[in-house]
Amino acid sequence: SVPKGLADAIAHAEPFVGGEPFVVSLGDSLIRSMNPGGVLPRLIDTHVREGAAATILFETVAPEDVIRYGIAKPAGDPGQEFAVADLIEKPSVEDAPSTLAVAGRYVFAPTVFDYIRRTQPGRGGEIQITDTMRLMLQDGLPVWGVRMGEGERRLDIGNYRSYFRAFLEMALIDPDFGEEFGEFARARLDQDAE
Ligand code: G1P
Repeated sequence: SVPKGLADAIAHAEPFVGGEPFVVSLGDSLIRSMNPGGVLPRLIDTHVREGAAATILFETVAPEDVIRYGIAKPAGDPGQEFAVADLIEKPSVEDAPSTLAVAGRYVFAPTVFDYIRRTQPGRGGEIQITDTMRLMLQDGLPVWGVRMGEGERRLDIGNYRSYFRAFLEMALIDPDFGEEFGEFARARLDQDAE
């Protein structure tokens, strides 16, 4: 079978998930959080409290970066948590309804699988989970957003530039190797400076 997009990949989890709500964590996004337990407990709390069909983690990005992400149109003035009115996958800078970007963490109700089956190929010819959630919104199902807070950073390992930065940052704080690696990195840079 051929990969058909993120929603198609998620559809393969249906037998594993059964009838339960579940979390999707994209492997090319690391979320560094100073909060105990990280961001997922907040995402799950909101999902349960709001009886949402889908709950998404959002990061505010620079206006020129909206072209890389799923972007939300919030229902009102967005607080730490907000109802999503609409979503658009990788819009142009002009078409972006906000700078709130999908940050690679989702909670879904199992009904998402019915909506994935109804999702037509979209951006890049791929079956996009962003479009699946859009179908949910059109049916009046609640979709919620949770914003990344203070002390939370997203590290993207989906391109070389950000991957190298993420690797360095995570290596430096590693409890086992961080200190030694820091010395190595410093010595290496000093050597280059000579
Ligand atoms: C995917 C999603 C996009 C999301 C991004 C987060 O895009 O389609 O909505 O903002 O992950 O990393 P991809 O990175 O696969 O192009």
